[in-house]
Amino acid sequence: MKTNQNTTFKNTFEEEVYEGLTAFPKYLSSKWFYDMKGDKLFQKIMALPEYYLTECERSIIEENKADIAQLFSDNTGFDLVELGAGDGKKTKILLQELVNSKLNFTYRPIDISQNVLDELEEDVLKRWPKLDIKTEQGTYFNILNKLSKQQKDRKMVIVVLGSNIGNLSHQYAVEFLTTIRKSMQPDDLLFMGFDQKKNPEVILKAYNDSQGVTESFNKNLLTRINKEMDANFEIDNFKHWPVYDPESGTTKSFLVSTKDQTVTIQKLNLDIHFSAWESIHTEISQKYDDDIVNWLAQEAGLSVEKQYTDHQNYFTDYIFRIKN
Ligand code: AVJ
Repeated sequence: MKTNQNTTFKNTFEEEVYEGLTAFPKYLSSKWFYDMKGDKLFQKIMALPEYYLTECERSIIEENKADIAQLFSDNTGFDLVELGAGDGKKTKILLQELVNSKLNFTYRPIDISQNVLDELEEDVLKRWPKLDIKTEQGTYFNILNKLSKQQKDRKMVIVVLGSNIGNLSHQYAVEFLTTIRKSMQPDDLLFMGFDQKKNPEVILKAYNDSQGVTESFNKNLLTRINKEMDANFEIDNFKHWPVYDPESGTTKSFLVSTKDQTVTIQKLNLDIHFSAWESIHTEISQKYDDDIVNWLAQEAGLSVEKQYTDHQNYFTDYIFRIKN
């Protein structure tokens, strides 16, 4: 067994792969899903019939866009800061509405993936050549840190769509919301989507689609480690396994080793042993209800000002303000 005490890590990805795969039980963070291939796979997921989240939130925004634009608007203009913008498909409905209403705003999409931001900027400028867009690459925490230090001269509206917050356990969700709150002034708004508790069957299918796109997405973590760290994971020796616990509302995704095997990660100078049926925990996708969201908000010093849902109550977008 090779050890690694003397290796210095090239980046946080390497460091976290080392930490997670030498821990017991093994885990990896879902934020590493999103390389070029992962971005593409996630876009495919959003188009799947089973992945209801995207269509639900799209319909919420479509049906309430005039009301939302009205709430966002400000005489002196505003900054529309979007965390985890991705391809911006749902946001573009809002952007169209804001442009139609001739509102003065700067669109500031932020994402962990530079590649997704480049595509988003190109598309936005093709549709609205005069739209003021400033993209920024980074993790939520880095960006929010920066935001809270900036002098703000106008209203800020922070948007987090797609239930992206669901990747965080409640403890980290409160920290995340608290960091957001600290960057907000009394007039600022937070618009955030939360996937709701519902029939467990519906939820499980969203993370176990019949075409196996989510399986590829989950396994792309291993593919990525193979590529970037010279590892030899045999992807077929791992099983995609999502589970949903209706009590906690947590969907957990795993990669389960189907046999006893050892994987070498050359760049980490590391051998990882897997017993047969040992797991790697790769993602949580938390589901919510109004009580949980109000509790999270309360803990973070925020309050719910308004909320919008789809006709099946599958998904809710909440508007938060600083609690006074
Ligand atoms: C982007 C975090 C909202 O958890 O539903 C989709 C990512 N993972 N299918 C989610 C995801 C598996 C997604 N979020």
